[in-house]
Amino acid sequence: MNTDKIKHIGVFTSGGDSPGMNAALYAIAKSAEINNIKLSGFRKGYEGLIDGDLVTLKSHELQKITHRGGTILKTARSERFMTLEGRKKALRTLQANHIDALIAIGGDGTFKGLLVFSKICDIPFIGIPGTIDNDISGTDYTLGFDSAVNTAIENIDKIRDTAESHDRVFIVEVMGRDSGYIGIHSGLVVGANGILIPESTQDLTFLLEKVKNYDSEDAFLIIVSEGDEVGTDVVASKIKEVNPKADLRITRLGHVQRGGNPSAFDRMLGIRLGAASVDVLLRGSKNVMVGLYNNMICTTSFQSVVKQHHIDEELQDLLELFGS
Ligand code: F6P
Repeated sequence: MNTDKIKHIGVFTSGGDSPGMNAALYAIAKSAEINNIKLSGFRKGYEGLIDGDLVTLKSHELQKITHRGGTILKTARSERFMTLEGRKKALRTLQANHIDALIAIGGDGTFKGLLVFSKICDIPFIGIPGTIDNDISGTDYTLGFDSAVNTAIENIDKIRDTAESHDRVFIVEVMGRDSGYIGIHSGLVVGANGILIPESTQDLTFLLEKVKNYDSEDAFLIIVSEGDEVGTDVVASKIKEVNPKADLRITRLGHVQRGGNPSAFDRMLGIRLGAASVDVLLRGSKNVMVGLYNNMICTTSFQSVVKQHHIDEELQDLLELFGS
């Protein structure tokens, strides 16, 4: 495609919201304006694309909200877009509004949706990885992960205060539908006694051995990823079996990890990936996700973007050293 013909870009956020999405929208708007391109935001992800629910985005409005969590465009997980009928309707919306290119901020499911859409719609699509789970290949970090870890550790530190005061065993469940990135990062830096994540299968036995001999004279903190195959409740009952005297409490941090002001890192990541998305688009890229690899902008084709289940060796070693 002749990129001079890109006069109107559409953008939407999809899947779970994540801190830093608004900063990315600001950067996209700024880059679009500099290139004399109009920017429209579709509300509620693919739903807005189907229903033609769009608003004009201006950088001077967005620059005031880079500090805000969530996404001002709202987001959704769309069932309708999974049907051909829904996608055809979305195509009609794009044509009726003369959209020349589309930028999507979301997780791997969002990009898979675009890949299917590309069979009937041939305008260029660019993806920006946005999920607190950090579970997407093709980037070292996804938007929102750093903020979510910071929220998790802030809360776990508070739990430590009360756990120490009562000499309690605390299980803190952190988010990560299928992945343990929030679990391993938060668990290591709060000095947890145990960390259970789906990417590691051998740690429960070690943990039970430790908790069996735990002398109730201190706090004992265990971080469990939501996606761990054993699960918080089973871990709790197994602890009770091996150490019936343990004064045990469970805290599920839940959606608090998704909200709040983005960290400096996530704001910067949003700015970098947002600007990069327009840049690669204007250089002729199509159907790729922009990401950060070794602190440099990179692109990965949607076909190669997969859900990541790999914790690198160094982190695995740290997990063994500190967490089990
Ligand atoms: O966005 C990722 C995530 O927060 C996962 O960590 C979690 O499992 C899931 O979304 C929760 O989804 P929902 O907001 O639909 O309950």
